[in-house]
Amino acid sequence: MMLKAVVFDLDGVITDTAHLHFLAWRAVAKEVGITFDEAFNEQLKGISRMDSLQRILRYGGKEGAFNDKQCLALAGKKNDLYVRSLASLTQDSLLPGIHDLLVAIRGANVRIGLASVSLNAPGILQALGIHNAFDFCADASRIVCSKPDPEIFLAACAGLNVRPEEAIGIEDAAAGIEAINAAGMLSVGIGAGLVHAGLQLHSTRELNWQCLTDFWASRSVLIRN
Ligand code: BG6
Ligand code: MG
Repeated sequence: MMLKAVVFDLDGVITDTAHLHFLAWRAVAKEVGITFDEAFNEQLKGISRMDSLQRILRYGGKEGAFNDKQCLALAGKKNDLYVRSLASLTQDSLLPGIHDLLVAIRGANVRIGLASVSLNAPGILQALGIHNAFDFCADASRIVCSKPDPEIFLAACAGLNVRPEEAIGIEDAAAGIEAINAAGMLSVGIGAGLVHAGLQLHSTRELNWQCLTDFWASRSVLIRN
């Protein structure tokens, strides 16, 4: 089977915004008396804004302590802080290897998709100057189920007009790897602890077109046998 598409997560794969999400949530959580560290933050990666808030409140023993209006206000405050921190993003903020990889995928005539549940994704792609690099970006505002549900990866494959089995997904979150696997795509994990990824890499420095094609070829052999 030919590899027809590569679908990227955004935060933590294309650029280092995963850390900015953490800083903004940590500040808002502190205001309501909840503290958490980067280890707990791993559980927020790939999770939508409102679901993240619920996880933080549950973690801090404050589940149900705020009504819907107050929850919206807390999520809005986090987003304001986060968006303010995005002002530092420039075309130099791509993680190592991502620019060359996008060029190589395009050169190989393989389609490129985005599967980010972030409502800020379009603005971030603009700031990074890579909005034209994608053949299709799944619309986060239309996604009902957050990762680990496969919905957003299936939406990306549908928009790219490829079958999930013909595509690779790249993620930095455990929930994202589960979503890719559940969609029936091959998964590449960036970072520690992504034990369910088909291919595990320490950082995007190790991510290049050669390693993706080698991975694809090795898995195709396994499937044939
Ligand atoms: C994901 C991040 O990409 O987007 C999560 O990994 C974040 O941490 C989610 O909560 C939603 O982002 P936003 O920008 O819509 O609040
Ligand atoms: Mg991510």
